[in-house]
Formats: sequence, C-alpha cells, structure tokens
Amino acid sequence: ARGFLGYSRLVRIKPGDIIMNYLYEHLGTKLYNFQYRKDDIVVLSYPKSGTTWISELIWAMVNPQKVAEEGTTHIHERVFYIDQDIVLPVMEDSPMMEQLQRISPGAKWSDGVALQLAETACQRNRRIMWSHMHLNLLHPHLLETCKAVYIARNPKDVCVSYFHFLRNLESRKGRAFEGEFSMLAEAFMKGDLPYGPYWDHLKQILQKKNHENLHIIFYEDLKADVMGELKKLREFLNLTLTDEELNIARDHASFERMKLRERGGRVFKECLGDFYRKGEVGDWKNLATDDLDERMDAWIAQNSAGLDIEFRYQ
Ligand code: A3P
Repeated sequence: ARGFLGYSRLVRIKPGDIIMNYLYEHLGTKLYNFQYRKDDIVVLSYPKSGTTWISELIWAMVNPQKVAEEGTTHIHERVFYIDQDIVLPVMEDSPMMEQLQRISPGAKWSDGVALQLAETACQRNRRIMWSHMHLNLLHPHLLETCKAVYIARNPKDVCVSYFHFLRNLESRKGRAFEGEFSMLAEAFMKGDLPYGPYWDHLKQILQKKNHENLHIIFYEDLKADVMGELKKLREFLNLTLTDEELNIARDHASFERMKLRERGGRVFKECLGDFYRKGEVGDWKNLATDDLDERMDAWIAQNSAGLDIEFRYQ
C-alpha cells in the first residue's frame, strides 16, 4: 500500500515523499478503521475523474434547501476528503492550511485533520465524504454500512487532467511536476502517480459492481446526459426530489458555476491553480503524440481485457 501513495520520482517535491510515507504509516490504519454511519454517502474515484463535480451534485441533491446559502463555501467544508491528510501534506504551508485552521484551530496535518472533521461532522447533516483510496485500503465493511458512488473516467483524459493538475499544484516548495506530458503518461501507465495503478483502482470496484450499495457513474455519461444520471442517482440514494430540485443541483454544479466559485475562493485557487480546467472529453488528442497514443491504446487493451466496460474517448 505504501508504494501506491508516495509521489513518484518524477515529482519535484522531494520532502513530500518522506512526509507522505510517514503520514500513511501514521494515518493509514486510522483511515482503514474509520467508522462509517448507515446514512453516509462516500464518493470514490481515481483522482481527476470528476470527483469534485459528482460531490457537488450529490451535496446539492442531499441539501436542496441549502444550495443558495451554503453552496458557495469551499467543497471540503461540506464534503470531507477523508484521505486528504495522507496525500496533501505537501501543501501544509499552503493557504489550504488556513482554511483547515478556521474549521479546526490548532490542527496539524499529522493530526488527521480531514478524518477528525468527518468524524465530528454535524449530526444534523447527512455526511458526504470522498476518497481516492483503493477500495481495499478502506474499511472492509464500507459497502455493508453505507452507500458509495464511484465515478470513473476514461484513462486518457484522466492522464491529461492529472498532468495539468500536477503542473499547477504549487506550494512554497515548488511545483509538483515540471516534466513533459510523455513523462507523466509513462508514470501513469506504470502506476507511479499518487494513488497508484489506475486499473487496479477500477478493478477493485468492478468486482463489487452488483453490490446494492454501490453505484458506478462514468464521467462521459454525466457529460452527455447529466439529468439522466441524476435521476438514476436520485433512485440509488432514495431521495425524494422533484425534477426542479435536480435542475438546481445540476446548475449548482455546472462547470461554469464551479469555475466562478473557484475564482472567488482564494484558498483553492492559490494552491491548485486552474483546477476547473476544461471539463471536456477527448483532450488527450491535443497532447499525445501518435507513438504515445499507440502505446496507451495497447496498455488499455491489455488491462481492460475481460472487463465489462467500454470507455468513450470523445
Ligand atoms: P479537466 O482537467 O479535464 O478539465 P477531480 O475532481 O476528480 O480532480 O477531477 C477534475 C476534473 O473534472 C477536471 O478535468 C475538471 O475540469 C473536471 N470537472 C470539474 N467540475 C466539472 C464540471 N462541473 N463539469 C465537467 N467537468 C468538471
């Protein structure tokens, strides 16, 4: 598990490697033993798959009456990123820390701030959490206890999005990644990026695809027909919502509105750069050379053989 979690050799923030492994040892067991509640909703995904989008949608569906007033606060004040402490200590000197201090004064990353926040989350609200961890690093009874929504995105676009994300990810220690796209793509195919091998992440979920507490959504389907996907989600989450309320959730989480909110939010903007970058399917073709495209296709064919899924790439 440790190997999955460190930034790869390609990543420039060397102190980050050490801190991250230290924090996994320190907090991984805590995360594994985290107690879920029956009415929790856990968003699961490989990074850059549309986690923030689906989280905003779910939050607005669960809290339709709060969208106008609370919907503009930072997403992590409403949806708890439970492994944040483990993978983001590179940002401990970043403005993100200020926000965490506001919620939990005196907290240090190594205290497991995100976990503590989720644990003590207000009882009045239905708790919504997100994690990028591989399913087997989370509590084995998670799906027996509460509902989980997995968002999957085609690996080419995940890779492109990851590239821009790491290029933008900045703390006082420097940029997370300054190499070429091809270097990042090689690391992604090797499973060397934070959160490790893409296919392993997906396969662990697909093994549970018929579990009644698991709902799988594809980023590309959400792009193509957001209302259709929200209706399925409404049923899965047993929510009594009108179509009008679904419209409100859709609008609250539109790319344009989310981007606008980011601009207003200094904290997020300063350490993550342009997080809401493009939000499109098929950006891969703008970066990959023919040679890389061929190798990626072969990698996809090899790893998706026998899996009952077909990604859309445009
Ligand atoms: P791009 O980098 O391709 O633009 P995550 O939240 O898992 O880190 O995923 C981030 C990706 O989701 C980014 O992709 C981001 O732009 C995209 N995204 C975020 N909000 C979105 C929205 N409302 N609609 C479409 N895409 C969105």
